[in-house]
Amino acid sequence: MRLILLGPPGAGKGTQAERLVERHEIVQLSTGDMLRAAVAAGTEIGLKAKAIMDRGELVPDDVVVGIVADRIEKSDAQKGFILDGFPRTVRQAEALDAMLTQKGLKLDAAVELRVDESILLARIEKRAGETPGGPRADDNAEALKKRLAVYREQTAPLADYFRSKGLLRTVDGMAPVDRVTEEIDRALGVGNEAAGG
Ligand code: AP5
Repeated sequence: MRLILLGPPGAGKGTQAERLVERHEIVQLSTGDMLRAAVAAGTEIGLKAKAIMDRGELVPDDVVVGIVADRIEKSDAQKGFILDGFPRTVRQAEALDAMLTQKGLKLDAAVELRVDESILLARIEKRAGETPGGPRADDNAEALKKRLAVYREQTAPLADYFRSKGLLRTVDGMAPVDRVTEEIDRALGVGNEAAGG
């Protein structure tokens, strides 16, 4: 299975991706996690990305596309993957299309987690308080405001992009976590057997 999770910061992409990984034995490819790892390791990409991420802006398309292109070549991604936080622009979506076409692969679905923006600050603040080793540098009210503006402007249009390809599945991300997981399974046409009962 090859999936995309779409949704604004705090929508629950990472939370649901972790569950999909367990249930469908596919890998989670989170560009946010990969970039944070690069920042922590002090790589060239990390050094470039840090200030951009801290401000809540997007890292340049070519950097992120390069990271994903390398990652989906790895053996653990061959059975399938869930892209969490990628693509985030139409250019990234087109680059992904080109990558998959070249490999003769297709996406199964793009799952959009729809949430009211008004609850996102509370979710981000809660996570900031629970993150081992301290909060992410962008988990604060000011950076969230920017992240949301960027999402609305550059990422939300991807819903139409995937809808036009017949791939969009929209799920209510306001429901409790377990309920969202069930709705995702339903949207993907996956039965209870994937949940182990
Ligand atoms: P990224 O790491 O992708 O962050 P994001 O999209 O802002 O998303 P978050 O990780 O904040 O939220 P989430 O939707 O995963 O929610 P979560 O499950 O954690 O990107 C960070 C930065 O990296 C970007 O700003 C950009 O600079 C850069 N970047 C990354 N990808 C890029 C790309 N492709 N191109 C360019 N730049 C890129 O949940 C949040 C909290 O809510 C948790 O505490 C969770 O427990 C809770 N929660 C989750 N679901 C529920 C629920 N249903 N009910 C109640 N609480 C819930």
